[in-house]
Amino acid sequence: MSPAGLRSGPVGTLGPIRPADTIPTRRMSTYLVTGAAGFIGSAIVRALLERGQRVRALDNFKTGKAQNLEGLWDEIEFHEADLNDFELVASICAGSDVVLHQAAIPSVPKSIADPLTSHRANIDGTMHMLLAARDAGVRRFIYAASSSAYGNTPTLPKREDMKPNPISPYAVQKLAGELYAASFHRVYGMETVALRYFNVFGPRQDPTSQYSGVLSKFITMMLQGQAPTIFGDGEQSRDFTYVENVVQANLLASAAPAENVAGRMFNVATGVRLTLNQVYAALQAITGFDEEPKYETDRVGDVKHSLADISSAAQAFGYRPSVPFEEGLRRTVEWYKTQMAESSAPSGSSRGEIGVARRDRIGAPSNA
Ligand code: UD1
Repeated sequence: MSPAGLRSGPVGTLGPIRPADTIPTRRMSTYLVTGAAGFIGSAIVRALLERGQRVRALDNFKTGKAQNLEGLWDEIEFHEADLNDFELVASICAGSDVVLHQAAIPSVPKSIADPLTSHRANIDGTMHMLLAARDAGVRRFIYAASSSAYGNTPTLPKREDMKPNPISPYAVQKLAGELYAASFHRVYGMETVALRYFNVFGPRQDPTSQYSGVLSKFITMMLQGQAPTIFGDGEQSRDFTYVENVVQANLLASAAPAENVAGRMFNVATGVRLTLNQVYAALQAITGFDEEPKYETDRVGDVKHSLADISSAAQAFGYRPSVPFEEGLRRTVEWYKTQMAESSAPSGSSRGEIGVARRDRIGAPSNA
C-alpha cells in the first residue's frame, strides 16, 4: 500500500535509479572509515568489503556499537580510537588512500544539551582527522556534512549555493567541518568533498536514546505497540534518505574525477519531502499499528521544512538515489522486526555466541 504523497515530488525527474551493484569504486585502495561502528559508517564498511576494497575502521564506541560490525571483524583492520588522540589517529591514517569521515556526535538536541562535548567531537575531531589525512598524503577525504547547515531559510528545495543559516550548535559544528574541508583543499591541495546528508534512516540506526533519529524511534515503538510522540503539529517535513543512498554517494564521490568534486559540497538526499504525519501514516500501513501518535510542543532548535535539490551530486558524480523512501522504510521495518525477534530468542542461540566472539576481537584491537 502506498500512502498519499509518498511517491510525489521531483524524484521522477532524476532519471533511472542506479542499481547498487553498478556503483564504481576506485581500483584496490585502502579506505579509512571513521565512525565505522556507527549506523552509517558500518553500512559504508560493508559496501566497501563487498567491492573487495581494503578497509581500516576506526571508532571510539561512544555512539557506535560493536554489534554493527558483527561478522566483519576478520575482514577489517579495526582501531578503537578517539579522534582527539591526534598521535594515534595520525598513525592509523598513515598509508590510507581515502578517508570517509563519518565519526561525529550526530544530534541536534544533544548539541544543545551539551555543546562543548559535541564541539570536541565534531569540530576538534574533524580538524584532527583533516590534519592526520594531510600529513599522511591521503588523496581523497569525504566528510559527512549535514543538511542542518541550511537552517530555517524559507526557500525549498535547498541548493548548495544558498547561504547557510545554522541554528543549533550541531549545525554550526557540521558547517565548520565543511569549511575546514574546503580550506584544506584550497591551501593544501587535498581532495576534500563534503556530503550534506539529509535525515538518514535505515537498519542499525540506534533507537534507544532520547536523541535518536525520528524514524528509528517511531518504528521500534510502533512494533512494540507503543504510540510515539510527535513534537509540534507533525506538519514539519524532511527529505528522509535511506542509508544505502548515502553509501552510494560516498562511493561515487570517492571515485569521481577530482575536477568534478574536490573542494566542493553536495546535498545527499532523496529529493522528496514528507511531513511527520505522512510518515506516521506510512508506518501505520506497514506495521499495522493503528493508534494515533501523541503530540507535544515543538522541539527547540528544530527546522520546519527540509528538502534537497540533488542535481549537483547527479551532475558531478552520477548520484541517483537507488532506494526510494517507501522501499527503504519497508526494509528498515523488516530489519528491526528481525532484531526484535532475535533478541527475544532463548539464550544459547547463535546471536549470543556471536556476541562472545565480538568482545574477544575488540579486546585485541589491531592498533595495539
Ligand atoms: C537534523 C538534521 C539532519 C542531521 C540530524 C542529526 C535538519 C533538517 N536535519 O535532523 O541532517 O543528520 O539532525 O541529529 O536539520 N521528532 C519527533 N518525535 C521524536 C523525535 C523527533 O516528532 O521522537 C521530530 C523532531 O522534532 C524533528 C523531526 O522529528 O522535527 C526529525 O527529527 P530528528 O530525526 O531528530 O532529525 P532532525 O533534527 O531533523
